[in-house]
Amino acid sequence: MPVNPPYDFPMKRRYEELGTNPVSTEPVISAEYFEAERHAVFERSWLMVGRESELPNPGDFFVKRIAPWKSTVVVARGRDGRINAFHDVCPHRGMHVCGREQRGNRKFFTCGSHGWVFGLDGRVVGVSEESWFHTLDKDRLRMPPVAVDSWEGFIFIHRDPAPAESLPEFLGEINIGYGGYFDDIFFKPVGRYEADVKMNYKFYLDSSVEAYHAGYTHLQNNTGQNAKSGTALRLESSATRLYRRHRTIGVPIGVGIRDLAPIEGLAFKHGGAITPYDSRVKDRPLPSGINSNRDENWAFDILEIYPNAILFLSAPLYAVIGLWPSAVDRCRFEVEVYMNEPSNAAERVALEYGLVSLRDVIREDLNIAEGSTDALASGALKEMQLSDQEIAVRHSYSVLNQVMKDRLTR
Ligand code: FES
Ligand SMILES: [Fe+2]
Repeated sequence: MPVNPPYDFPMKRRYEELGTNPVSTEPVISAEYFEAERHAVFERSWLMVGRESELPNPGDFFVKRIAPWKSTVVVARGRDGRINAFHDVCPHRGMHVCGREQRGNRKFFTCGSHGWVFGLDGRVVGVSEESWFHTLDKDRLRMPPVAVDSWEGFIFIHRDPAPAESLPEFLGEINIGYGGYFDDIFFKPVGRYEADVKMNYKFYLDSSVEAYHAGYTHLQNNTGQNAKSGTALRLESSATRLYRRHRTIGVPIGVGIRDLAPIEGLAFKHGGAITPYDSRVKDRPLPSGINSNRDENWAFDILEIYPNAILFLSAPLYAVIGLWPSAVDRCRFEVEVYMNEPSNAAERVALEYGLVSLRDVIREDLNIAEGSTDALASGALKEMQLSDQEIAVRHSYSVLNQVMKDRLTR
């Protein structure tokens, strides 16, 4: 039976400054903390909202609820090819303009309330019965803009139309190292799940950057195999990188090995492009930021982009998770999975098995997040204990508390 070698606190030795104390439960249970966090964190960070490839043509747009801003944002490609983003609120008397239509292609947007017309950049281009108004500075009237920029094909928005910090500055260490990986020809969106969950969003972040839980939370699922074998899945210190705000962990193979149902076994045998070392993708070159140690045993990386995005990155597939909290104990959860589209029926079946397997793992994590949110709500427990293997969780709270302290005292 494989046994982990004796433990000598490699994470603590590498990240001495994070300390070893328990962490406060306040950030996950306090409504006041969440309200302050909305302003100090979400209204002052770049947020990932989608991919440029979702808007291939001028006039293409999507609408996204940005719950921590209490806003709905329209992201649209203008006739000049540039991507614009603005709050979905009419400057006449404040109705949603796009509202119910979630995505599509338009030459203009028209407010259903009194018929004002807007261009693809949110500016007013037509006012119905304009002569009835006393004065209207039409050149200045618009749906309020938000800043927009992109990284590796991902669209980010910032609530401040002229943010003090550029997107490359915000991304910091992760701004480079991922070039060429997110190839829109190779990777296509193949599956999406969404849910409204009664959880503090940070519980899902936390479960994404430690492997300690895998053998227990996921005991019934594919990642529980390590617990069944008597060995906890252990992260290498060198594959964990804690940046100024963001963090990444490398996860070794050892997850996903299990007894397959007969049909599932057949599906993976004949259409196994979803496994990390499938022969069709194992030679796919990866940029320096992914599996940065070039570890033979590597299965996937998790890249957590502060404050609310998680990227699952592997050779054959990637997934993007967005967490959109509306309250201390409420969160919209979204995941979109990208991989090479199946080229035959066997691959299609394997893909569907892969998707539902991923969905089940996610549901197990969401279940724990919901349970923790409920269990902690009374405030009876004041602090949480973190092991050395949970250093990335410790880092997440450390970054958050520092941001809150800096911004609220300014
Ligand atoms: S609220 Fe939009 S036209 Fe009146
Ligand atoms: Fe998990």
